Amino acid sequence: MNIKGSVALVTGANRGLGRAYVQALLDAGAKKVYAAARNPATVGDLPGVQPIKLDVTNPDDVAAAAKAYTDVTIVINNAGIMRVAPVVSGSIDPVAARAEMDTNFYGVLAMSNAFAPILKANGGGALVNMLSVLSWVTLPGVALYSASKAAAWSLTNALRKDLRAQGTLVIGVHAGYIDTDMVSAVQAEKTSPSVITQQVVQAIANGEEEVLADAISRQVKAGLSAEASVYLARNAA
Ligand SMILES: NC(=O)c1ccc[n+]([C@@H]2O[C@H](COP(=O)([O-])OP(=O)(O)OC[C@H]3O[C@@H](n4cnc5c(N)ncnc54)[C@H](OP(=O)(O)O)[C@@H]3O)[C@@H](O)[C@H]2O)c1
Repeated sequence: MNIKGSVALVTGANRGLGRAYVQALLDAGAKKVYAAARNPATVGDLPGVQPIKLDVTNPDDVAAAAKAYTDVTIVINNAGIMRVAPVVSGSIDPVAARAEMDTNFYGVLAMSNAFAPILKANGGGALVNMLSVLSWVTLPGVALYSASKAAAWSLTNALRKDLRAQGTLVIGVHAGYIDTDMVSAVQAEKTSPSVITQQVVQAIANGEEEVLADAISRQVKAGLSAEASVYLARNAA
């Protein structure tokens, strides 16, 4: 797909990886980027960027965006949350437990449903879902986040099959730690957001359906088919 002249919409575009997606798309020649954020005032002022209000868990916001921004040819489902909580503690708040699924799974589902017809009408385009290495392995402290990313991976695979017929490229992006607010408390090697987003922009241009954006995501994917699968390992992830 030619990114030059494309019109992109990035969710969670006000900071972290989303902000880097906006920049990478502009650098690659996108004509316009809708930078979607819960609070569009936090997006800032950049040439070629139109801040828009969009909470991916709010059906009215999603419907309004799909009604207003019918020129979109690339959708980047980037918005996400991570809550650190042990999955078996006896103290799980059932409402809080749904938050990650609401944003990381149902948010992606809602956006994909709303924008698939727009991508079709505009010739196919591309739909990018920001997944994780935790789509494949898990850690007790982020079990619900991992479950939401596993669900989003499965959804991505279904969307890819569904949308091939209309010429829409569906890309799943997997990565380990990325240097953003989400993992600011973690002391570990992290990939710079721009390294991730440049690979994704390249994948859109090349028509690739999956991006394994760092060494850990490549190792973990390779380990899924090992006799003792990587998700069974005692120190998995
Ligand atoms: N950082 C990592 O190590 C890592 C690794 C693999 C995958 N990922 C994934 O990469 C994506 C971006 O994460 P990040 O690292 O940039 O995290 P981040 O720095 O915490 O930023 C998250 C972004 O998502 C937005 N967001 C959260 N809930 C939203 C909602 N309901 N509607 C719209 N926007 C919402 C946030 O907006 P507000 O400013 O309004 O909160 C913010 O812009 C996520 O899907 C994450 O799961 C991250």
